[in-house]
Amino acid sequence: MAARDPHRFVNELDETAIKRLIDRLESRAKDSVFTRLIDKYAEQLALTKPASVLEVGCGTGAMIRAFVRRQEFTGKAIGVDQSQPFIDAARYYTEQENLEEWLEFQLGDAHNLEFPSACFDVVIANTLISHVTEPAHVLVEMARVVRPGGTLAIFDGDYASLTYAYPDHKFGHKMDQALAAASFNNPHIMRDLPKIIGDYGLELDSAWGDAVVEIGNGSYFKSFAETYAPYVANAGLINHDEVDNWLSAQSDAMDLGTFFASCNYYTYMLRCP
Ligand SMILES: C[S@@+](CC[C@H](N)C(=O)[O-])C[C@H]1O[C@@H](n2cnc3c(N)ncnc32)[C@H](O)[C@@H]1O
Repeated sequence: MAARDPHRFVNELDETAIKRLIDRLESRAKDSVFTRLIDKYAEQLALTKPASVLEVGCGTGAMIRAFVRRQEFTGKAIGVDQSQPFIDAARYYTEQENLEEWLEFQLGDAHNLEFPSACFDVVIANTLISHVTEPAHVLVEMARVVRPGGTLAIFDGDYASLTYAYPDHKFGHKMDQALAAASFNNPHIMRDLPKIIGDYGLELDSAWGDAVVEIGNGSYFKSFAETYAPYVANAGLINHDEVDNWLSAQSDAMDLGTFFASCNYYTYMLRCP
């Protein structure tokens, strides 16, 4: 079976797999190694006056809820996702956190957004475009719905840089590549983005990168490995026993305090002319 990015094909997953992804999205949003990166671009957006914000590919709404909880946020936000169970979870958590006044959710496809043109001040894609079928198409659609002078914020991993330490370096590299291929439709998209931006007439306002690194112990990369390693075996990229051995070795490394994993993440702020 060929690799099938679980977030791209989320509507084909069974209930157990969906539950696992929901848990992963929620735990990731609470992990400090990750939240500092989101805080960084939220600060850069500096929404000091009421703004209308769209998050495309919002999942369980974990990121946009954190955004709306920020003290300076006084506007209105909408999250769109292609998965009904994710939208249901997003509505549930939003109600639990009493955020309904500022935040709502809609089912929809990032390639064909059901909004009029130029109706948002800010449009965000937070770890979305590494998963979609046609990243350039999604960018153009995001640019369509943002008002002139508004901002597109694109945050994602350069999953081609994802790496876990493993004693057999050759196998470790093979597993890194298999993890990226099994989990992300577009593992190189963040390094390809400067060219795509130019090709579609979008303007780069600013961009920066951060390494997410865990040394000694892991929480972010532990949950990442446990969630996505099974997809490597299921896609037939590496056999089940070898994947299990790799997972056990990562777990042992955490117990021994010798764990190491890293991936680069990039943020692009695009200005819409
Ligand atoms: C890694 S999750 C990120 C969720 C959320 N942005 C966050 O940061 O917590 C990727 C999300 O993109 C959604 N997605 C993928 N392709 C999509 C598409 N074509 N249209 C809408 N959502 C899509 C998936 O359903 C999933 O919820």
